Amino acid sequence: MTNDLYAVVGNPISHSKSPRIHSLFASETGEPVEYTAIQAPLYDFAGTVKQFFERGGKGLNVTVPFKEEAWKLADRRTERAENAGAANTLFLDDDGLLTADNTDGCGIVRDLVVNHGVALKAARILVLGAGGAVRGVLGPILAEQPSSITIANRTVARAEALVELFTPVAGETRLSACGFEQPDEPFDVIINGTSASLQGDLPPLSSKVIAQGTVIYDMMYSLQTTTFNQWALEQGAQIVHDGLGMLVEQAAESFRIWRGISPATRPVIEELRND
Ligand code: ATR
Repeated sequence: MTNDLYAVVGNPISHSKSPRIHSLFASETGEPVEYTAIQAPLYDFAGTVKQFFERGGKGLNVTVPFKEEAWKLADRRTERAENAGAANTLFLDDDGLLTADNTDGCGIVRDLVVNHGVALKAARILVLGAGGAVRGVLGPILAEQPSSITIANRTVARAEALVELFTPVAGETRLSACGFEQPDEPFDVIINGTSASLQGDLPPLSSKVIAQGTVIYDMMYSLQTTTFNQWALEQGAQIVHDGLGMLVEQAAESFRIWRGISPATRPVIEELRND
């Protein structure tokens, strides 16, 4: 039997863990999946996608810096991709139309709720950052019906724009925007979606946002404790998670979309943690 071909497209791409994650899913499920990494030229993401599907490829994951371009390129988008404004999963539908989905939000929600047992329903959530990464996950987090989501960002106008964008799908959840210095009460869950740590920075938050039971979630991950989680631990946080589980869960949801089977994620998360 020949394998069906999948790939992740980005630039750069050599660091990507997706080929490893999907080959673990393939062995676990016995699905005939071959998954590679493709570095698209910055000027020709569209050509790379076209060529991949013309050669019979079945599905693509999309990563930095092409997620918005993937969203624009698609002929149709799922509702969660529409809200996210970015796509990390592409495939051809039954009519051969290029379809975009976004599994990042589903990934973070599953990691928090299923893997870490964190209740988001009725929770007071502080989200740090208002870029593409945060926009990508707000819809699925809102669907869990938290009591409030406060979006804090260095550029407050970007946080305000997200509040405006998501208010129509916010239901009973109170959505608000502010700067980093403003929040001074404890939250149930704090999600770091800024890229500040890439510059060795920390959002200038008050330690008052952290109480004993506050769950800290950094969407970044690294071998050592992330910069943000280290800061949170120093302020007395007792529950800190990084984004490795989110990475595996978003991959599992892409695999489910393509293959109709949900792979078990826990053994894969453990295997990657031990790499
Ligand atoms: P991504 O796709 O990773 O979300 P992005 O859209 O460029 O990338 O957004 C990066 C986010 O990290 C933004 O919220 C950004 O704040 P601004 O909107 O004010 O630019 C935030 N960020 C980046 N560097 C930061 C830093 N040094 N301190 C605090 N926030 C930072």
